[in-house]
Amino acid sequence: MSDKNILILYGTETGNAKALGEDAEIMASKMGFEAKLEDMEYFEAGDISDYERLLIICSTWGDGEQPYSAQDLYDSVSSLSGEALKGVNFSVLALGDTSYELFCESGKEWDKVIEEKGGTRVKDRVDLDTDYDDYADDWIMDTLDLMFQIPTGE
Ligand SMILES: Cc1cc2nc3c(=O)[nH]c(=O)nc-3n(C[C@H](O)[C@H](O)[C@H](O)COP(=O)(O)O)c2cc1C
Repeated sequence: MSDKNILILYGTETGNAKALGEDAEIMASKMGFEAKLEDMEYFEAGDISDYERLLIICSTWGDGEQPYSAQDLYDSVSSLSGEALKGVNFSVLALGDTSYELFCESGKEWDKVIEEKGGTRVKDRVDLDTDYDDYADDWIMDTLDLMFQIPTGE
């Protein structure tokens, strides 16, 4: 088994972020990662630091809000103390729609809070509009390549 672990967390309302998460899990497994795909709804904030690499894929709903299924985890991560996510190398793929005033707001919130809690950003966040299909998989592949280069235990 590979010692390069990666957690892929998705937050979704209608499944777009989940489908991208499934793509990411397949790509990561093919590259040799030990990949775990999880719905934010069922994941505990305290378990994130078990992973050295974290890929967040999250849409935005309402007026710039987290998907319903992601809100509790977001609140819990926001409440983590100090640098609880030190050692977690992360990147965020945000899904949204430019016709909304608060474009990709929830992805921006994740990007900010994980850094605030001590995480290290591997690749800058990408904010994708409704035509995300053309670009998302390329961005995920580039991000996984960068994450694969991070030595385990650092
Ligand atoms: C009712 C509704 C509210 C939305 N609100 C926002 C928003 O505030 N900001 C944004 O960037 N996108 C917004 N979107 C667009 C979604 O984020 C986008 O369609 C995304 O691809 C959905 O992904 P999901 O299926 O993973 O939830 C909204 C879409 C709907 C239908």
